[in-house]
Amino acid sequence: MPTSHTNAPPAYATRATIDRPIVLIGMMGVGKSTVGRRLATRLGLPFIDSDDAIEEAAGMTVGELFETYGEAQFRDGERRLIARLMDKEPKVVATGGGAFVDDETRALILEMATAIWLKADVDILAERVSRRDTRPLLRHDDPAKVLAELMAKRERFYAEAHHHIESGNGAHEQTVDRILQALAS
Ligand code: S3P
Repeated sequence: MPTSHTNAPPAYATRATIDRPIVLIGMMGVGKSTVGRRLATRLGLPFIDSDDAIEEAAGMTVGELFETYGEAQFRDGERRLIARLMDKEPKVVATGGGAFVDDETRALILEMATAIWLKADVDILAERVSRRDTRPLLRHDDPAKVLAELMAKRERFYAEAHHHIESGNGAHEQTVDRILQALAS
C-alpha cells in the first residue's frame, strides 16, 4: 500500500545523518546548555559547553575572567576555543550568548557546523536567568532591560543561523524534538 506523506510521523535526525558539529547559539537563559546536553545524549554525541571549557582552561569562572581581564580578553579566549572545536567531528556545542556576534566565530560556525538559534521571548529569558547569579553582563543593571537591549543588538546575527527553533515555556525535551526534526529536513 502506498504510504501517505500527510500521515507520516515526523522524521528525526539520527547519529548516522550527522556529519559535522551542531552548534547552539542564542541568548543567555534560553537553555542552550540543558538542551544541548540532552540533544547530545539523544544522538550519542559528545557535548561541549563553551563557557565550561573556558572556565576549565582558565581555572576561573566566567565572572572572575570578566572581572580580572575584562570582556575583550574573555572574547579572545572564546573565539580561540570555538575555533578549535570547529573540526569536522560530529558533536554538540553550546556557546555563550555573545559568541556568534563575533564576525570570525560566526563565519567559522556557519562554514563548518550546523548552527541552531534557540529563541525565546525576553520575559522567559529574564525569568530563567534570575535563577542563577553567574552572568557578569547582568550584574550591574536590571537583567530584563539588559537582555532586551542585547537581544535587539544581536538578533540580526543570530538570524543567520541555519535553523531557528523556539525554546519557549515547554519542556526542554520538546525543543530537542524540534531540533531533531529540523536536522532531518
Ligand atoms: C554571555 C553569555 C554567557 C557567558 C558570558 C557572556 C553573553 O553564556 O558566555 O556571561 O554575552 O551573552 P550563556 O549564554 O551560556 O549564559
